[in-house]
Amino acid sequence: MSAATAQEMSYGEAEYLNSCAVCHGVGGRGDGPLGDFLLKHPPDLTHLSERNGGRFPYSRVFATIDGRYAIPSHGDREMPVWGRQFLEEDAKTYGPSGGEVVTTERIHNLTGYIETLQH
Ligand code: HEC
Repeated sequence: MSAATAQEMSYGEAEYLNSCAVCHGVGGRGDGPLGDFLLKHPPDLTHLSERNGGRFPYSRVFATIDGRYAIPSHGDREMPVWGRQFLEEDAKTYGPSGGEVVTTERIHNLTGYIETLQH
């Protein structure tokens, strides 16, 4: 990716394309190429507001992406626990508490980006 492209793109969008599009699809419709290989199909992320009475469920989406504090409900989670995965990378660069700040920021950027995908 060229520097110009990276600047035009928001952090959330760049991160989404990097880490999420492979399952959820470039436009968030749940049609990424890896989806066919999972037991549970990755959900469409463009109708989360619609299914929540027209309001974007920000904190639920944030917690779902983070995954570290989720209560296991039905069966296993197929999506990676991003909070743990990001923190592992970020703590190497910023230390444990700095890493936590950066990880939280990354998840906010992703949540904000998913909000822009709502139809
Ligand atoms: C390996 C495939 C895969 C990747 C990569 C992936 N997801 Fe998921 N995602 C899933 C699956 C499958 C579910 C359904 C719940 C489950 O089984 O974990 C899900 C659920 C979700 C949900 C909950 C949707 C709802 O209906 O409430 C959100 C939000 C989400 N993913 C966002 C993301 C974001 C943001 C990323 C990138 C950081 C990402 N996903 C990367 C497979 C993936």
